[in-house]
Amino acid sequence: PAPGWAIDADVVVVGSGVAGLTTALRCAAAGLATVVVTKARLDDGSTRWAQGGIAAALGEGDTPEQHLDDTLVAGAGLCDEAAVRTLVTEGPDAVRRLIGTGAHFDTADDGSIALTREGGHHRRRIAHAGGDATGAEISRALVEAVREAALHTIENALVLDLLTDAEGRTAGVTLHVMGEGQHDGVGAVNAPAVVLATGGMGQVFSATTNPAVSTADGVALALRAGAEVSDLEFVQFHPTVLFLGAGSEGQQPLVSEAVRGEGAHLVDAHGTRFMLGQHELAELAPRDIVAKGITRQMQLHGTDHMYLDARHFGAEMWERRFPTVLAACRAHGIDPVTEPIPVAPAAHHASGGVRTDLRGRTTVPGLYACGEAACTGVHGANRLASNSLLEGLVFAERIAADIVTERPRAGEAVDRAPVASPLLAPETRTTIQRIMTRGAGVLRSARSLTTAADELEDLHRSAYLKAGGDEPKTAEPGVEAWEATNLLLVSRVLVAAARQREETRGCHWREDRPERDDEHWRRHLVVRLTSDRS
Ligand code: SIN
Repeated sequence: PAPGWAIDADVVVVGSGVAGLTTALRCAAAGLATVVVTKARLDDGSTRWAQGGIAAALGEGDTPEQHLDDTLVAGAGLCDEAAVRTLVTEGPDAVRRLIGTGAHFDTADDGSIALTREGGHHRRRIAHAGGDATGAEISRALVEAVREAALHTIENALVLDLLTDAEGRTAGVTLHVMGEGQHDGVGAVNAPAVVLATGGMGQVFSATTNPAVSTADGVALALRAGAEVSDLEFVQFHPTVLFLGAGSEGQQPLVSEAVRGEGAHLVDAHGTRFMLGQHELAELAPRDIVAKGITRQMQLHGTDHMYLDARHFGAEMWERRFPTVLAACRAHGIDPVTEPIPVAPAAHHASGGVRTDLRGRTTVPGLYACGEAACTGVHGANRLASNSLLEGLVFAERIAADIVTERPRAGEAVDRAPVASPLLAPETRTTIQRIMTRGAGVLRSARSLTTAADELEDLHRSAYLKAGGDEPKTAEPGVEAWEATNLLLVSRVLVAAARQREETRGCHWREDRPERDDEHWRRHLVVRLTSDRS
């Protein structure tokens, strides 16, 4: 259907996590007519689930240079050093400005910001709030600031496609809105600047730390719009996700890496610490190494989980420092004060996304990407823990500055009908997730990826073509149908990249190609679609 309503703005920000809301607040403060659209409620994205914190060289003796070194090592040869340098040098002040916006971080006895450690960091560098509820506090502060600034927000609005003018410049987005009164149904926001801050793609897999809304909508939109997307094969699996039983699906509770940062041990069923001797940082090795260590132990023991032992913290420390993790464990009948926590890796963060430059610009004029939806180059093949909230913050400010100074212009949109159809049936989502988990999960091979690619192609063909014919069919338009459609498109691109990258690097682990191959693969896989049916 063509849009039934339209509004005009200078900039439309899609998504309401740290990246989206920071961009929107900065644009609005500079006097731009700014509209925020978000798929559920303003605080429903991934940001509010972040536990460990936000990394920045804020501690005594720490420097951006040391933060840069740790980030480059974790990124396994694929970080863009200029992007990392931007992140780590602008990071500390961006965190201070976030505090100025109203976010309260935990403090030490002397009043300075309390800092913890996480995997891959050689220093205490992670600022946190409410113990392990950092994202919730950041989200609260930003949502409050957005309300105080009376920003125009449209909730329950799924972004569909990019609108462009006759010269291919961004002219706005189409949206499907549910139950927002005057903006109900399919409509459009006309704007010469669009910022995709739609978050991650964890829902591509069966088990993930991401909320149900993380369905890669921004990356799918960018692919359909012909923007370049990069590094999709680098999906980070968080090593310690509370194990809820074989076959658990959907969002799983995270057990923050900061629990290991404060001294918890990874052990097997006999209580043996298996990360000792595997890396100089043991349990605090970069995340890919710990996820691999756990997966190897699971294979060795023929089990589907290992254990995180932090009984030595005692009840007081658990309650004060990790109330969120403690509550989640207890809600599932596990008491970390008296027993080790069963854990297993699950999909957590997309290092890749819509390719941008240092000002957040994609390859489509007027289209920007920020936060997990973007690939700025700061994460390379494996994101360093707690760098993602920082990335959202730093690059949001850069994007706002670019929009304010460059003031993109656009003519009339040439085609106002959403092109995300034909649409997949909503129930396809679970099939996609199972295919991806089996074939493109933490451990991959040419064989598993080929099977996944074939299964996804079958799904694509059978979903789109009426049996025996070549006429497209489509599901009833609706959020679930669009989400399933986006998940399939992004899964196909992800699997193609993972098949192509015939090496093991960072969080891309190929059991048939166990070595890193710098000679052939110290490069990025960049994709630009010419048609979403290709
Ligand atoms: C965690 O708390 O372990 C998550 C931190 C991150 O993913 O950056």
